[in-house]
Amino acid sequence: MKILVAEKIAQKGIDTLVEAGMNVDVKLSLPREELLDIIKNYDAIVVRSVTKIDEEFYEHATNLKVVGRAGNGVDNIQMDGATKRGVIVVNTPDANTVSAAEHSIGLLLASGRNIPQANALLKNREWDRSKFTGVELLGKTVGVVGLGRIGSLVATRLQSFGMKVIAYDPYITDERFKRFGVEKRDTLEELVKESDFITVHTPKTDETFGMIGEKEFEMAKKGVRVVNCARGGIIDEDALAKALEKGIVASAGIDVLVGEPNPDSPLVDFENVILTPHLGADTYEAQDNVGVTVAKEVMNALKGEMVPNAVNLPALKHHDLENIKPYLFLGETLGKFYHQVRKDSINKVEIHYSGNVTNYETSVITLSVLKGLFEPILREQVNYVNASVTAQNRGIEVVESKGQDAGNLLNLIKVVVHSKEKVFTISGTVSGKGQERIVEINDYELDFTPTQYMIVVKNNDRPGVIGQVGTLLGVHKTNIATMQVSRNSKGGRALMLLSVDTDVTKEAQQVINNIDGVEKVAFVKI
Ligand code: NAD
Ligand code: MLT
Repeated sequence: MKILVAEKIAQKGIDTLVEAGMNVDVKLSLPREELLDIIKNYDAIVVRSVTKIDEEFYEHATNLKVVGRAGNGVDNIQMDGATKRGVIVVNTPDANTVSAAEHSIGLLLASGRNIPQANALLKNREWDRSKFTGVELLGKTVGVVGLGRIGSLVATRLQSFGMKVIAYDPYITDERFKRFGVEKRDTLEELVKESDFITVHTPKTDETFGMIGEKEFEMAKKGVRVVNCARGGIIDEDALAKALEKGIVASAGIDVLVGEPNPDSPLVDFENVILTPHLGADTYEAQDNVGVTVAKEVMNALKGEMVPNAVNLPALKHHDLENIKPYLFLGETLGKFYHQVRKDSINKVEIHYSGNVTNYETSVITLSVLKGLFEPILREQVNYVNASVTAQNRGIEVVESKGQDAGNLLNLIKVVVHSKEKVFTISGTVSGKGQERIVEINDYELDFTPTQYMIVVKNNDRPGVIGQVGTLLGVHKTNIATMQVSRNSKGGRALMLLSVDTDVTKEAQQVINNIDGVEKVAFVKI
């Protein structure tokens, strides 16, 4: 697998890739044309916030499977384009939050006390204390916009300065405000009117871009101080420049610019605006953490494994991923049966979860069922990311449901595949020891551990059929590992499920098919 590291990440991250045997090229800050020219040669790219991963990029990146974002914000990555092509986008949302929070507070303190300006003057061998009188934080109100990972770290840290912390975040529960000891404000207007300091910590979205603009500055307290260590433009740069001119804003600490890395912003000319070139995550700790995390995530995603920080997949915590793994394997296995047993198109897939599996993020298991379902016919073109889109594009309705009763099992996943005229069902469970079992196929009860090579035989329940299957497999040097038979009634129809050690040759398949009493045979590879 070839990986292009297109923006600077910590050497530890590169070492992690190289030590794992990956073929890594580090080509930093390539001109766009050059990048577009070579990207077809790579399976994965690692970027930070500068490289634009857009439609034009995807069109050139014909072999791309993974985009690793060494950092948090993914506003430079066009997500729909990735999802429809099955490109997995991974990021490292937790690896640099402390550094970003500390930098935000650094900017707040530095701008409130004019530290960089005073430093510059003294370095110029001038001494003047009168120009740099600042303000204390104690007893002041800070308004935090966005109480997510970084906003909450900033909020709790500023409380130790004796500040009153209020926050506006319409997308989180009241419980979260309480957990961080923060007073909730229902509108941005309320927050702006009350705050002596405002610090923004939202992602850049259509809603947040320019959310602190002219209107907000008009209603703000005179002398308010603002910090943006989130994304350029969340505090509108032109509006901020005007508010600085009018003396509404006393100072600002800005780490991110709309046009970065181009430093051409109206804010650059203000003495009372402290600017840093997107340094929020630039600490040794955060960069090592980000580099190693992104390297591991990219490698796991390239292996087709589920990764907790895949942005275009439901979110999973590391701990949950470990617990959910056997269900993902089971879901994929159940899905893989259909197209190997039936040659029929699908209208609808129902996936019903019961028992303790319902405690997990079942939408991810549903993706594993869909991935398994399409893999026998689409191979590597389907993965966790595009499995849903693939179903949608093929006009397949996917219905997920949950119930409590798993009978005498701890949990049950039942997959019902509807074609035009028929219904195929298969169910499985994960035992207390984490062992996957198939417990039903088309209403035939089983208790079977799935293996790489399996044979499903539908036959008449009469003497000799099972024996002949065994004998003829033996003749064709196919060793049976385990076998189970299930029937709906004595002398009626039966289902045999066999696990064999090797793939079954075409010739042997033909012979088994022709056994008298065998109605149908399917050879299933997992
Ligand atoms: P997060 O997703 O954990 O939190 C964002 C919060 O913003 C969420 O709670 C969300 O509900 C809230 N939000 C969304 N829209 C909102 C709106 N319209 N009004 C109010 N709140 C809204 O994100 P995070 O990890 O805390 O990151 C915050 C920001 O910091 C992001 O923009 C990220 O890209 C940026 N960041 C910058 C640096 C840096 O180097 N400067 C480093 C890391 C992260
Ligand atoms: C991030 O989103 O993680 C930050 O912008 C930091 C970075 O990109 O390095």
